[in-house]
Amino acid sequence: MHSFLTLVTLSFLAPRAARATACVAMDINWNLFAFGLDGKDWNAGTQDQWASGTATEITASGRPPFDGTATQCFLSQFTNAIYVIDGDKANPSNIHIYDATANSWSTQTTTAGNLDPSSANIILDHDTNFFYAVLNGELFDLDMGLLKSANSSALPWNDIEATPYGSSYKPTMALAQNHIHFLDVPNTPTGEANIFVIHFSFFQPNPQAYPSNGQTVLPAQHGKTASFFQAAGVQQEFVYIPDDGSNTYVINVETNTTQVLAGPTSKDPNAFYFAGITSLVQLDSTGSVSFLSYNQNDTSANAKAAWSPISALASVAPPSSSASASASGSSTGSASGPKSSSSSGSSSTSGSGSSSSASGAAAVAPRGILSVLAGALVLGTIALAL
Ligand SMILES: *[C@@H]1O[C@H](CO)[C@@H](O)[C@H](O)[C@H]1NC(C)=O
Ligand SMILES: *[C@@H]1O[C@H](CO)[C@@H](O)[C@H](O)[C@H]1NC(C)=O
Ligand SMILES: *[C@@H]1O[C@H](CO)[C@@H](O)[C@H](O)[C@H]1NC(C)=O
Repeated sequence: MHSFLTLVTLSFLAPRAARATACVAMDINWNLFAFGLDGKDWNAGTQDQWASGTATEITASGRPPFDGTATQCFLSQFTNAIYVIDGDKANPSNIHIYDATANSWSTQTTTAGNLDPSSANIILDHDTNFFYAVLNGELFDLDMGLLKSANSSALPWNDIEATPYGSSYKPTMALAQNHIHFLDVPNTPTGEANIFVIHFSFFQPNPQAYPSNGQTVLPAQHGKTASFFQAAGVQQEFVYIPDDGSNTYVINVETNTTQVLAGPTSKDPNAFYFAGITSLVQLDSTGSVSFLSYNQNDTSANAKAAWSPISALASVAPPSSSASASASGSSTGSASGPKSSSSSGSSSTSGSGSSSSASGAAAVAPRGILSVLAGALVLGTIALAL
């Protein structure tokens, strides 16, 4: 029942060592990009091309230096643009926009107020194309409109309200179905997530359990996230990799169940994750990129899936040289290295509305659902036009 296309992505991150960071993301055709890897930008093509061959260099003018300390990349599915947060250490509130159709860059200025985007956890909501950020217990948003190149006006980060989780909670945030999920929240039962309903700007009072075959499997641990996209429609599943890398959990917010899959080979709490439709990609702190194949319709295949290196990137930007930081710094700029963060998805309307929305309706609605729907329809129209 949602009529909008959807998708999205995102990622966030976590504070990490102060080193230059690379970033990975996909475009709407699921080509994998690695930015700032060994100082350059790369297109590794689609999943069938990752195991062999070589990525194509796409380093272009106008790119950020990729010298931030917590760089995060997000796919705006409606615009086929990739938004980069903290890609420029000297200007942490800038958002760099990569138009994946035109292979061109532009720089969006923002007014960030009390928000330091390089320290915040951030997701990009699929249907509204709004960023949501949490820093020191405060929730912020920023409307990206339908931008695939920068607006001449600065865009404001708005301080919405305090989260109920306290200022010392270090967020593990993930997006699916217009709901931001918060894991590892203090005083929440293990295996359950707290939820913020975007369309109602409402923090659900009660957490939701996500068991596996009736058993509690999600640990109470900080971690990284990413949201699987759909070809069309809202994201329904997000990935959670706890910092110890012990397992990869896939949480389905329609069925409220969890799959327990292989943990990444590289157990790196500072790794960055991006999920497409059929794969989860990890970029670790040494610049090593690997992936796990995924099929949203085949849990038994997922349970057997193993992580594999993305040779197409390793062959052109070997992890060791990436890790050695800027040393190799090629022309444009910047080194690459690690990164961290995670991401997660997006959302869309609510057909399933039942979920939390019902209760949410009573709550405040800074951004009313009507405007959200209107926006989504506009987005849908544009998506169709594309
Ligand atoms: C961009 O700039 C125009 C003109 O100043 C403004 O109307 C619009 O709301 C801005 N923001 C976005 C996200 O397009
Ligand atoms: C999963 O199943 C649905 C419904 O049959 C189908 O539309 C979708 O394309 C399938 N997805 C994959 C990745 O096979
Ligand atoms: C899943 O959880 C949501 C959010 O708490 C709830 O509204 C929904 O009814 C649940 N769905 C199922 C199938 O249990």
